[in-house]
Amino acid sequence: MTTLTQLPDDYVQNPHDVHDMLRAEGPVQEVHMPRGLKVWLVTRYDEAKIALTAPQVSKNIAEGGHLMAVHSPPSAEVRREIEPTLAVHMLNMDPPHHTRLRKLVTKAFTARRIELMRPRVQEIAAELIAKLNDGDEVDLLEAFAFPLPITVICELLGIPIDNRDDFREWSNQLLSFGTPEQVQAAASAMAGFLYQHVTTIAEAEPNDTFFSALVHADDSGDRLNTEELISMAFLLLVAGHETTVNLIGNAVLSLLRNPDQLQILKDRPELIAGSAEEFLRLEGPINVATFRYTREDLELGGVTVPAGEILMVSLVAANRDPEKYADADQLDVTRSAQGHLAFGHGIHFCLGAPLARLEFDVALTQLLARFPNLTLAAEPETLVWRDSTLIRGLHTLPVRLA
Ligand code: HEM
Repeated sequence: MTTLTQLPDDYVQNPHDVHDMLRAEGPVQEVHMPRGLKVWLVTRYDEAKIALTAPQVSKNIAEGGHLMAVHSPPSAEVRREIEPTLAVHMLNMDPPHHTRLRKLVTKAFTARRIELMRPRVQEIAAELIAKLNDGDEVDLLEAFAFPLPITVICELLGIPIDNRDDFREWSNQLLSFGTPEQVQAAASAMAGFLYQHVTTIAEAEPNDTFFSALVHADDSGDRLNTEELISMAFLLLVAGHETTVNLIGNAVLSLLRNPDQLQILKDRPELIAGSAEEFLRLEGPINVATFRYTREDLELGGVTVPAGEILMVSLVAANRDPEKYADADQLDVTRSAQGHLAFGHGIHFCLGAPLARLEFDVALTQLLARFPNLTLAAEPETLVWRDSTLIRGLHTLPVRLA
């Protein structure tokens, strides 16, 4: 069987067929990503878990970041390292640096602490829903799925909500395939804003918000320096911007395409919270997890990935591995989708998972209660997916409310 080495140009429009082919051939292949970067892409579930935890694999971008240039085609416009002040965050680090940074924020994100935010999240969702009317045709992402999580994360970070359109623009540029100039401009703008924000909070009296506590924290004898604070805010802001919006959007699209499943959730809204796992499994918001590379040779399902290679894991592919989930391409809101990898696995497992689950539960519950008969306002084939191998989400989700 021939090995597919170049992912097709329209890969982001339908990655699932490509993943099925790759997975059938083996657990991991050398492929060229749509812009030419050569990586080893893992598509099977068992090997994905190994790749996400193996000690031979590193996320230390300071040491491995140069591999992006090494494995890019000579003609490619290699993305210059974005603002160093945005890059010193835990997702770019291995222990012990990762351990230290994560420990400083873990407490604020436990399921118990996040549950305390439920009334406020419900209030924000209700305010957004109140602006919508029966018969309206809206982009559900713009009108609901985006503003909910971004309002929550801005409140956590103490960032004025008026700035959210700027962030959306910068964040979009940073995660999609813009030109190096566009990426650089967005990174500088973001870094400049966050520097200002961190400085303002550091100079103000401490208050009881999460970010003020983080800026002023020194009870354990440890505190973050300005660069680390900027990077931490950046990571949380981008994670808060780009993920939950697409969990909600992808879930609503899946439901509108599977009316029997929609009916189940309308009849039994108490299933909505648990169904988050199935939506995460079926069409999670992160396709290919973030940058990793092999520090040493790594054996994955009989294939040796040599040291010095970029190792990417498609979480979307792993979550549809038929060896792990029966009828993996089917939405079944009553199945147990436990063990899915949509939030990652191992030490980098998503810090914001409890918050994302809460936001999803609140969003779907209120949306289906108020607009139980909403429909798609576009042919499914005309929907366009974002030009990113990281983010799995639509540009727009036109719906008619009823
Ligand atoms: C449905 C929504 C979300 C999904 C699917 C998601 C997914 C992920 C994934 C897959 C990773 C690991 C990436 C890797 O190992 O390459 C991750 C890490 C992370 N996520 Fe999320 N995320 C979501 C929401 C959030 C939210 C709302 C926040 C913050 C408020 C957040 C904060 C983080 C942070 C800080 C990390 C890095 C953890 C570490 O390196 O130890 N995420 N997320």
